[in-house]
Amino acid sequence: MSDQSLQTLGEFIIDKQDDFQYSTGELSRLLSAIRLASKVVNREVNKAGIADIIGKAGNENVQGEEQQKLDVLANEIFITALSQREVVCGIASEENDDFIDIKCVGNGHLSKYVVLIDPLDGSSNIDVNVSVGTIFSIYRRVTEPGTPVQLEDFLQKGVNQIAAGYVIYGSSTMIVYTTGNGVNGFTLDPSLGTYYLSHPNLKFPANGKIYSINEGNYIKFPQGVKNYLKYCQMEEGDRPYTSRYIGSLVADFHRNMLKGGIYIYPSYSQSPNGKLRLLYECNPMAFLAEQAGGKATDGFRRILEVEPTELHQRIPFFCGSVDMVEKAEEFMRIDS
Ligand code: AHG
Ligand code: MN
Ligand code: MN
Ligand code: MN
Repeated sequence: MSDQSLQTLGEFIIDKQDDFQYSTGELSRLLSAIRLASKVVNREVNKAGIADIIGKAGNENVQGEEQQKLDVLANEIFITALSQREVVCGIASEENDDFIDIKCVGNGHLSKYVVLIDPLDGSSNIDVNVSVGTIFSIYRRVTEPGTPVQLEDFLQKGVNQIAAGYVIYGSSTMIVYTTGNGVNGFTLDPSLGTYYLSHPNLKFPANGKIYSINEGNYIKFPQGVKNYLKYCQMEEGDRPYTSRYIGSLVADFHRNMLKGGIYIYPSYSQSPNGKLRLLYECNPMAFLAEQAGGKATDGFRRILEVEPTELHQRIPFFCGSVDMVEKAEEFMRIDS
């Protein structure tokens, strides 16, 4: 298919605008700002090796993680694009202690959306030229438009998401997102700087043969997870499964969605809530997973129904092909 016959992301966003009765076009402008910021981050990621932006930034974020230079840069790029284009009234980021209030009247309208973002996911992979990503999650604010945003605008259940998606800076760069009507993937043609619809209506296979987990932590895992891993490795039927773990949630999720698989970041002895963040990582990925016919739980409960209590809250994460997630949940139930 030639470039000219493919639909661009810009055309797709405009085409879909009417589906959601957001007649002010605010969500379209918001998605366009994310599209633009992703291209800027992509440019920076691509030249990381030659531009003195690999390595540590020299400070820690609120979650006690050492920030990488690209964590900081990607955070700035997304916050600048979203705030200066006046498309959101508030932003919360993995890299910021607190949420940001943005007094904006974009296009004469009081903005009603807040964005939660993991600006650079998989930051341990930056220095070694392995795929990283960006994850975003969009909600309608619950407090009165025109007033400063409040914590409660961000602490919403995942089921309230209006849109969510990720960018994967991989062997090619893609945006994959949902507005609640399925999941679509767009690949960047770097020579034109244009995203094209390359993966319409993405679906998780109901079953798969890939399991993704940091098995180095095996000794610290709950018994249910240990037993599930033994099950994956058993020689029986279509097993043993294949183990694949990149260490970038976005990249592991993306591969599992295309091929069929399960991603697990369980609780472990030192961290009963696991590692991944409910608001910046698990909710958006869970929304995408469900929209693609997959499943996302904490081993027991649907992620999207968990009531958040804190901005940087962590939660165990089991996500992927339905049959595989349900099998893992079975093992969790037996040993709880
Ligand atoms: P982030 O780079 O945004 O802090 O996220 C890292 C997350 C996730 O992307 C990945 O799957 C996981 O941490 C890897 O953790 P381990 O190194 O503990 O396996
Ligand atoms: Mn981090
Ligand atoms: Mn992350
Ligand atoms: Mn991150």
